[in-house]
Amino acid sequence: MCGIFGYVGSRNNAGQLVVKGLKNLEYRGYDSWGVACKVGDAVLVEKDIGKISAVNESEFAHDCGMAISHTRWATHGGVTAMNAHPHLNEAGTIAVVHNGIIENFQSLRNELKEKGYTFKSETDTEVIPYIIEEEMKTTPDFASAVRKACAKFDGRYGILAFHTESNTLVATRTGSPLIVGVGEDGYFIASDIPAFMEHTKTVQYLDDGEMLVTDGKSILFTDLETGEEHPKREIEITWSVEEAQKGEYAHFMLKEIMEQKDSIARAVNQDDDQIKVIADAIKNAQGTFLVGSGTAHKACMAAEYFFSVIAKHHVNVTSGGEFKVHHHFLKPESLMIVVSQSGETADTLEAMKVAKSKGAKVLAIVNAEGSTIDREADYTLLINAGPERAVASTKALTGQMAVLMMIAHAMNDKLHEGKTLLLNTVSSINDMLNPRYIDFLEEVAQEIQHHEDLYIIGKSWNYPIALESAIKIQEVSYIHAEGFAASELKHGPIALIEEGTPCIALLGNDEVTPDIISNTIELKARGAQTIAIAPENNEAFDTWIKVPDVGVAQAIVNVIPIQVLAYFLAVKRGKDPDMPRNLAKSVTVK
Ligand code: F6R
Repeated sequence: MCGIFGYVGSRNNAGQLVVKGLKNLEYRGYDSWGVACKVGDAVLVEKDIGKISAVNESEFAHDCGMAISHTRWATHGGVTAMNAHPHLNEAGTIAVVHNGIIENFQSLRNELKEKGYTFKSETDTEVIPYIIEEEMKTTPDFASAVRKACAKFDGRYGILAFHTESNTLVATRTGSPLIVGVGEDGYFIASDIPAFMEHTKTVQYLDDGEMLVTDGKSILFTDLETGEEHPKREIEITWSVEEAQKGEYAHFMLKEIMEQKDSIARAVNQDDDQIKVIADAIKNAQGTFLVGSGTAHKACMAAEYFFSVIAKHHVNVTSGGEFKVHHHFLKPESLMIVVSQSGETADTLEAMKVAKSKGAKVLAIVNAEGSTIDREADYTLLINAGPERAVASTKALTGQMAVLMMIAHAMNDKLHEGKTLLLNTVSSINDMLNPRYIDFLEEVAQEIQHHEDLYIIGKSWNYPIALESAIKIQEVSYIHAEGFAASELKHGPIALIEEGTPCIALLGNDEVTPDIISNTIELKARGAQTIAIAPENNEAFDTWIKVPDVGVAQAIVNVIPIQVLAYFLAVKRGKDPDMPRNLAKSVTVK
């Protein structure tokens, strides 16, 4: 939610540099954008609504060694150029970009108004430069004034700021991620690594409750409250620039779907001993809680079935934002498994903090190495899917499910069999994702693209996949899609079925298959156009999308044609699947 990128150093094209890097953060928000360049003793601000990708870097060719920039996902205040960041104080000497929410902004705004300040925007952010200005009246040192200002802010945020009379860039963090790229000729500070990956792969993480100050030659990390110095490690990242680019594909979403041929195998490639230790930890825990949000939550729901069927072990599954009310069940002997692609999701992080406050251990299954969840968990298993840039999560989900399924097998002393099954599944996916198959899915999308309602049913582990399918179709194509447990149909939702309503049934080749075939027949009897994703055909299906029969790994396979279908539905309806409206990758606000 919102991308921040700033640079300070010996280069003299900071404006162009940050605009270029910001384009790689567009997935974090694309309502509007803005840049502030320090040119001499003045600040030049440019901001507008729309996407940063449409902006020409050459327009920022100022002689400038320090600049900050922002791509916005609106929270407070509509999508207008005035609400876009950076925000300045009235004198135009302090420039600020901000990610997150200043929860007490209304009371701060009222206090400032009483002091005679006027506000140009409706944002919570605008109070930041004004409060810093207020603090500078008694604390002229800019960084110290920022520290004092932050003591007045409630909420979770990441802030990047500079003053025209100082050559330092100041960043603070109490929740929203900020990562430093350590270059030979300066420091890059961004919400995420792709912003500066072409310049450096050496990073340092700003942690919650910390502040950094840099003049481009050196950098100082301190405790935001006390000012005490915090030593920092430099970490080398392993992602390549190519991995984070679209390459031959029209969209990141399709690229990332196709990458599942490899990414699932990378997720499965975990250390056996570590998986066994985790399996034992789950067996010995007094209550295991699986927590994720959105698509990651659906991975947890699928895992509930894996643990039940494969490991015969009960786990509790909750979505991140709902966990807080269940804290009574946590003990120091409990285990929380948090699942997240970005490792930055505020709802999931909140659940994790609750677990830690209760003394429970936390295992993280994440994609983004070095993310907050990765760093704050007691143990982490990285799924190694590589950068996921499309807003819709695809390859992260199958990696998460693969890891969870492997753990379920390990709990039943069948780790080797589990790994073999998953690797065979990867090779079946490789065969499945051939050009003819993709063309066929495009034809199915072509046929149903004009429908405004679409329903998906599944049973057992295909039930969470039905829910996930609905998320995927909704978020990129804006079709009203809903997923149901197949058996629930006749308890209400079947009333929605009209002549021609497309209904997708997800099947495996297992004990629940006859039930879901019956449910599909019931739908067909009410006029539904039935589309089945199944290993075998049946006369109940108007359209059959064939998938390999992979036994207990069927959920991992069945979601993939749905991802492709969702992608084509978006494209055919003229929507940008990589940047759906109202959404952004990394939901760092609650
Ligand atoms: C949907 C989607 C979201 C995320 C959710 C959690 O396609 O991407 O529902 O799954 O916001 O994000 P992470 O996995 O980063 O915690």
